[in-house]
Amino acid sequence: MSNDKFSFYKEYPKNCKQDDFWGQVKRTVNGKAVSEQQIEMIVNAVEKGLCLNKDDVLLDLCCGNGALTDRFFSHCKSGLGVDFSPVLIAVAKRYFERLPEFEYQLDDVVDFCEKHPNKYLFTKAVCYGSFSYLDYDAAEKLLVLLNSKFENIQSVFIGNVPDKDRMGCFFSPDSYEIGIELKPESAIGIWRSQSDFKELANRTGWVAAFTVMPVEYYAHHYRFDVTLTRR
Ligand SMILES: C[S@@+](CC[C@H](N)C(=O)[O-])C[C@H]1O[C@@H](n2cnc3c(N)ncnc32)[C@H](O)[C@@H]1O
Repeated sequence: MSNDKFSFYKEYPKNCKQDDFWGQVKRTVNGKAVSEQQIEMIVNAVEKGLCLNKDDVLLDLCCGNGALTDRFFSHCKSGLGVDFSPVLIAVAKRYFERLPEFEYQLDDVVDFCEKHPNKYLFTKAVCYGSFSYLDYDAAEKLLVLLNSKFENIQSVFIGNVPDKDRMGCFFSPDSYEIGIELKPESAIGIWRSQSDFKELANRTGWVAAFTVMPVEYYAHHYRFDVTLTRR
């Protein structure tokens, strides 16, 4: 359903090696996988933003191939990752699934949240580097569902959001195409300002707190993170 027209991550990873985990999700700079230090910065930001602990049951929305998810899960009691890319979920199942605690499912994230039978299961949720690929309706619907259906979810970390106020730090006049920041199917997806996100959070029952990654982080100059807590 939502955003099904966008199939980049359903096709592109087929051209990568099975264990090229960062290449498959385009966590690369000039075509090369980012360093271990970059990955550690991401895991630290999520762990800190959500205060992850061994009582947590974490829902990872748009989990990709599970390479990052697995590191988030190592701080939790159990977890479930959902993604609509068959090739990435196959990698997640092959390399990272450890049932029954740590599971991966193939699904669209909004469909998954609508259908999931246990509204008490999850305590926290994360959506890393992916929220911008949901269209406007799906993004709004997802945040409403997380708030109204999953009663035990205390906080949601939305990481690596492209910052509309800093588009000029990413695009050059030559590479910018009018309106690209509104397109979920573009390479970066939908760009939002912190004030756009604050309004989206308010409309969907959340309060947004913003953080930025350390200056050493490869995308710190045009992205921010959001932690949502219940209003
Ligand atoms: C850049 S990758 C990030 C994956 C992972 N979160 C990470 O940071 O390594 C974006 C992911 O979002 C997934 N995705 C986009 N829209 C989705 C949707 N509506 N439902 C489920 N997955 C979706 C893609 O399949 C892809 O795996």
